Amino acid sequence: MAKVKTEYICRACGARFPKWAGQCPDCGEWNALEEAVSAQTPQGPASRGHWAGASAGEVVNLGEVSMDTPAQRLASGLSELDRVLGGGWVAGSVVLLGGDPGIGKSTLLLQVQDAIAQAHRTLYVTGEESAAQVALRAQRVGLAPDALACLTETCVETILATAEAQKPQFLVVDSIQTLWTQTLQSAPGAVAQVRESAARLVQYAKTTGCTVVLVGHVTKEGALAGPRVLEHMVDAVLYFESDSGSRYRLIRAVKNRFGAANELGVFAMTDAGLKPVGNPSAIFLQGQAQPAAGSCVMVSREGTRPLLVEIQALVAPSSLSNPRRVAVGLDPNRLALILAVMHRHGGVMIGDQDIFVSVAGGIKIQETGSDLAIALALMSSLKQRVLPQGLVAFGEIGLSGGLRPVYNGEERLREAASQGFDQAMLPQANLKGVRTKINAQGFNTLSDALHAI
Ligand code: TYD
Ligand code: MG
Repeated sequence: MAKVKTEYICRACGARFPKWAGQCPDCGEWNALEEAVSAQTPQGPASRGHWAGASAGEVVNLGEVSMDTPAQRLASGLSELDRVLGGGWVAGSVVLLGGDPGIGKSTLLLQVQDAIAQAHRTLYVTGEESAAQVALRAQRVGLAPDALACLTETCVETILATAEAQKPQFLVVDSIQTLWTQTLQSAPGAVAQVRESAARLVQYAKTTGCTVVLVGHVTKEGALAGPRVLEHMVDAVLYFESDSGSRYRLIRAVKNRFGAANELGVFAMTDAGLKPVGNPSAIFLQGQAQPAAGSCVMVSREGTRPLLVEIQALVAPSSLSNPRRVAVGLDPNRLALILAVMHRHGGVMIGDQDIFVSVAGGIKIQETGSDLAIALALMSSLKQRVLPQGLVAFGEIGLSGGLRPVYNGEERLREAASQGFDQAMLPQANLKGVRTKINAQGFNTLSDALHAI
């Protein structure tokens, strides 16, 4: 095995040095030298180039690759999590699970370990809690602790040696930020440590076929703490989201090499751990007591499933010279765009009003299919008129004031019908060839839709 040596690489110019310095001697950038591992290359004759000593790799023709054995998947025992993963944990894959502290990452993975441990060897490595704390949690959630193997360790080399001896098929590392490798001097949590530790675990997963789950902390801004590069190294990145104070938890697949990206799973946090929520539309519409002005229900599509959510808008006269525009759960730029189109093509004058738009239930809407529902909610609040009960809306608003069709219109209408809605407003182009029980009205432009209500 090649001897492992550390070196320092300048983040700005890429120059390499054997020693750390506060300022890069090459480009003069301050605080830019980062520790990294360099595998010392065996010294071959200079004439044979720097690849001397390496043997040629094996090239395969994709047509000859055997695909008889489809990727083996382990069911997690939680239907919503399996949906996010695209059908379960793939053997040999590495999944990164990110989320705020206390949101339930450790609880979820303990439950998953319990389900998988029924038929496979598993190992839960914790670098944050004692074995007693983990056992206490298992007891609280009502799991049988006898089947759960736990290791409290933070050194990657020891973890890998243990894993090699135990041969688990499912390995959890909670969390990647607490790990350190003997080959680097920097403190645990440093960029180089996180990256190097993750690289070792990825290599382990690929060579042994063990599924590895890495827990990652997120920063205040919501990004994974540590290097972004982690997201490129792993096969799937899942994010835990939640509204503060809500008992519902959402898991979103930001990246997934084995399933649909942006897939959403919904859970409820109970005294017995996380429970999958089979009918999420019902919970996002929950608490909508009396229909009120400024509220409109939209059919969104997250991953491969349609979802009904309520959009709430408040338009009120402003005392500020620069009226406020606040968007919660959706992109503020999208809101600005919709307001501009309403003004220019719908003749709606709301330049002097404070505007607040929020998506109920703590969910974040990323697709443009919500545009029409946002416009209708704003209009409803401005005119103080309640939208008809049982109405859903979806459709994208174009800059020219037209309504553009969105994908899977028929499926969205079916979901609305199954939740008891009987009226829909949507782009005309979405109605083509669609058969539905709902009284669906198609519109070509935003101003047509606004006049219709
Ligand atoms: P935890 O899994 O420790 O969060 P993370 O690993 O993401 O930091 O979850 C801890 C929170 O979950 C804590 O606030 C208590 C709550 N909880 C429940 O509501 N019910 C339960 O059964 C358990 C185990 C935790
Ligand atoms: Mg935890």
